[in-house]
Amino acid sequence: MGDFAKSEMLKRLPRQYFSYLAKRKNELKAQYEDIIDLGVGNPDLPAPEFIVEELKAAADDPINDQYGPATGFDYLKEAVAEYYLREYGVELDPKTEVAILHGSKAGVVEVSQCLLNPGDTVLLPNPSYPDYLSGIGLAGAKIAELPLLEANLFLPQYGQVDEQTAEAAKLLFLNYPNNPTSAVATPEFFAETVAFAKQHHICVAQDFAYGTIGFDGERPLSFLQTPGAKEVGVEFFTLSKSHNMAGWRMGFAVGNASVIESLNLLQDHIGCGYYGGIQRAAAKALTGDQSSVRNLTATYERRRDLFLKELESTAFKFNKPKGSFYIWLKAPEGFSSEEFMEYLAREVQVLVAPGDGFGSLGAGYVRISLAHSEERLIEAAKRLAQLKI
Ligand SMILES: Cc1ncc(COP(=O)(O)O)c(C=O)c1O
Repeated sequence: MGDFAKSEMLKRLPRQYFSYLAKRKNELKAQYEDIIDLGVGNPDLPAPEFIVEELKAAADDPINDQYGPATGFDYLKEAVAEYYLREYGVELDPKTEVAILHGSKAGVVEVSQCLLNPGDTVLLPNPSYPDYLSGIGLAGAKIAELPLLEANLFLPQYGQVDEQTAEAAKLLFLNYPNNPTSAVATPEFFAETVAFAKQHHICVAQDFAYGTIGFDGERPLSFLQTPGAKEVGVEFFTLSKSHNMAGWRMGFAVGNASVIESLNLLQDHIGCGYYGGIQRAAAKALTGDQSSVRNLTATYERRRDLFLKELESTAFKFNKPKGSFYIWLKAPEGFSSEEFMEYLAREVQVLVAPGDGFGSLGAGYVRISLAHSEERLIEAAKRLAQLKI
């Protein structure tokens, strides 16, 4: 017996950028002592205690040892609807407008499989979170890029999409607050999105993974707060960042009922439900006290300010993030993203994520994650500031 060949579908999968990065980072970590890794966006703080307690209590309930409903418990869908109404004033029918997901990553991959056939066109921002490529690759769809430029506050310009591409497009990915650029959406931009999507019959998949993390008193907008949004799309939410529950992999999609139905159909065949204890704890997270969420956002804002204060009087160029927990830093003239990453590791033992891993227009940038203690962030920023750039 020899090896078994991969299917054509698997061969279409893109290189997993974060896996590649992890390998290079491990090499650098082995090479240098006391390296500070600001490359990965893995929340560093624990989940709130009352949520963990709920999980522990749920583990004692034998109902959770049995198979649950394939697309999740109704009580969790109701908790999601309660959350959106309370936090955003958005009404959702928990039966038809909420899909429970194995993390929002699973959802943003599945939505491509739900809506795209081989050769179909998808509008994808450049740069963007690399995992959208996984679903697009599995579906065998074609990408038409939407440039995200600093001059346009990293928002796509629909006026620049040619008519033929707009007519061919079936799906459009958005992600605000944005990873990696940390840009946020405006009400006008979301209104333009709805108009564009309606005109060309495109489904909008807005990834709201950093939905609770907005700074300077500005709360990030939910796409569904835009009039008409539900007719044209869905929003993906996750407890990974809002409630420090990344390892729990609990997310959901809300919005357009036909897309929710397709997501549920696919999940009925693939995932077939989630551990009930996690669902019970997730419901508690959504309906319980949200002060930990607000405190966490304040923590990221303080970290942002402390980090950037050290860089204020240097030649480094960056935009002060308005949301998410990333800083999108310009590499100095003459450096590619990867060269700058290697340079920082070598000279000051700080690791960052090269921007071109998020798309060709990320070239010349690196991404810094604030998911680290104040002490380490200040130390890293001081090391950067001492460079003669
Ligand atoms: C933009 C974006 N979307 C989705 C995810 C995945 O989140 P989840 O943990 O819910 O799968 C991440 C995680 O880093 C992200 O940055």
